[in-house]
Amino acid sequence: MKFKIEALDPKSKARAGEVTTDHGVIETPIFMPVGTMGTVKGVHQRELKEEINPDIILSNTYHLYLRPKTDIIQGAGGLHKFMNWDRPILTDSGGYQVYSLSGRRKIKEEGVKFKSHIDGSYHFFSPENVMEIQRKIGADIIMAFDECTPYPCDYNYAKRSMHMTHRWLNRCINHLEKTPEIYDYKQTFFPIVQGSTYTDLRKQSAEYIANAGAEGNAIGGLSVGEPAEEMYAMTDVVCSILPEDKPRYLMGVGTPINILENIALGVDMFDCVMPTRNARNGMLFTSEGHINIKNKKWEKDFSPIDPAAITWVDTEYSKAYLRHLFVSNEFLGKQIATIHNLGFYLWLVREARKHIIAGDFREWKDKMVKQMDNRL
Ligand code: GUN
Repeated sequence: MKFKIEALDPKSKARAGEVTTDHGVIETPIFMPVGTMGTVKGVHQRELKEEINPDIILSNTYHLYLRPKTDIIQGAGGLHKFMNWDRPILTDSGGYQVYSLSGRRKIKEEGVKFKSHIDGSYHFFSPENVMEIQRKIGADIIMAFDECTPYPCDYNYAKRSMHMTHRWLNRCINHLEKTPEIYDYKQTFFPIVQGSTYTDLRKQSAEYIANAGAEGNAIGGLSVGEPAEEMYAMTDVVCSILPEDKPRYLMGVGTPINILENIALGVDMFDCVMPTRNARNGMLFTSEGHINIKNKKWEKDFSPIDPAAITWVDTEYSKAYLRHLFVSNEFLGKQIATIHNLGFYLWLVREARKHIIAGDFREWKDKMVKQMDNRL
């Protein structure tokens, strides 16, 4: 993998760059649509590629390991072939999914024992077997196995957990060295900074992760319920320590405003279920703010979904029609809303990139943040 910085914004820490993988180039800043089960829910691959056009998508080790199971994906020749997606893929390690299973998992130094959400069967994830699973799934970027701490988190717990994540990182790296790639393209490994909302821990973790000398680095443990200002403070501290010449990925973030503010702090990559999950609940992000399309107020509103016309669905359908589809629980409603929201997120990061290159990102970002902080 190669990373090249193309432009730096003069009034913020935003960067525009290019990550080159064996499955293609990723222009940054980038938002990665979430394809947990090897599908971006409700959008078929051709539509995803042609209409939304993301340079990379994300999938999840935890889910694919449980279903269809790693061997099936390996049997297909890896996830790209299995799901018919020939652009880059990143897989999360399961560290976050296992964290979400609170009450159905036990975390120890050796690894995590957890109960499947599908059939209640018991499984064990360790830094070693998670690396092996990610080799078999075959994503272009694979993530370290970490512990994502909850919010709020007691200082001593956060400190102990961070040190364990660091020890797990060493085990991931040692194991990867012994486990070569299975497919004919390179996989790049990203370690993850933890440390909850404690500045001293975040600094310590960022230094540890920077020293690992990986080709890209991630920031985890944020967007777990802390106020946005605390998230930004942690991102700022961590980005000031992580190497400048490597991509920085902020995991699981966030709202359009969170994305723009974190780009301004030096983050290059994002993923979040928000645009897809919220779309399925009728919540749309638009250039003028967010709307709940199920509200009665849209019943007779025949204006386009979004006058900014970012994706073709925006002007092809009216708010009243989309509301009707949601109220009638029609599949198409969720599909249109998903295409719209993903189209909006990808438009947002592409505009951010253009403005970084043009040198006026800060001004544009401040204007957009005001405009989007609006419930219509
Ligand atoms: N996704 C969102 N946050 C995290 C995190 O802290 N760790 C991992 N592995 N994935 C995440």
